[in-house]
Amino acid sequence: MSITISSITPDFVAEIGDVDLSKPLDPAVFAEIKQAFYKYSVLIFPGQDLTLEQHLAFSELFGPAERERTLDPKATPSRFNGAFADISNLAADGKIWGETSRQRMYKAGNRLWHTDSSFKYLPSLCSCLYGRTVVPVGGHTEFADQRAAYDALPADMKKKLEGLTAEHCIAYSRRRNGFAEFTEEEQRRLPPVPQMLVRTLPESKRKSLFVASHAGRIFGMSDAEGLALIDQLVTHTIQRQFVYTHRWRPNELVLWDNRCTMHRGTAYDDLRHVRDMRRVTISDVANSCEQEGVPLPAEFVARQQRVA
Ligand code: OGA
Ligand code: MN
Repeated sequence: MSITISSITPDFVAEIGDVDLSKPLDPAVFAEIKQAFYKYSVLIFPGQDLTLEQHLAFSELFGPAERERTLDPKATPSRFNGAFADISNLAADGKIWGETSRQRMYKAGNRLWHTDSSFKYLPSLCSCLYGRTVVPVGGHTEFADQRAAYDALPADMKKKLEGLTAEHCIAYSRRRNGFAEFTEEEQRRLPPVPQMLVRTLPESKRKSLFVASHAGRIFGMSDAEGLALIDQLVTHTIQRQFVYTHRWRPNELVLWDNRCTMHRGTAYDDLRHVRDMRRVTISDVANSCEQEGVPLPAEFVARQQRVA
């Protein structure tokens, strides 16, 4: 039996039915899911009952999962380790987090438009977020299509962006939100990295913007000019016509392409309602500059050599 695919627009966001992700997938069924992923960028799988192992097994069909967490587990223990990012509002003991907890301050950054792990030299291909328990009001996840946003840019802007590289760092997005206290160990592990501002998706050959609130500078521009251009592109991308708002139902899995979408969580009463979400993040095959065949910025290479 084949899966059903119901898309929201002709090429962005689709709901996938008639598939049970808790079981090993027939290769032909997985091939259909993969094609849908390349076409629609965001896939919704309602009504899935998954253990952590089953969630991970499905996610890893797309590639290897990231296993190093951004916050040092020694400084901030979490319910999960290894391949799982805890996107809930629960502390390590499973109770709702405290108002001033470090996890809460850090995760407030998920309210900003971003794409997961663009601040890592090896960025992410996709994220697979599973919602076990959802909240009655708010707590949606919004997705913006960076391919459509690129297509809609004026020709002179497309020309200006050709070959440009931005610098992404987790500290840039967290600073926008007032979280500035990374430990020395966290800072050492997460130095700023270059990523293309525009990338080409190998499967569809479509071009996409690749911006996020993790981007803070553009190589070869002054800090002010670079930040202004990044903010302009983010503002362009999050216009209503490029955005889908996902209203969660319990036991739903959402898979998105981090190469060509941005997302953000919307507010909810996180000190009152439990929102239990877990995420597996799959690595891309290479840094976006390497994939585009664009040399790494000389400034970045010199910095690497100093550290080594
Ligand atoms: C994520 C994320 C937003 C949300 O899981 O990567 O940013 O809605 N989630 O919780
Ligand atoms: Mn995210």
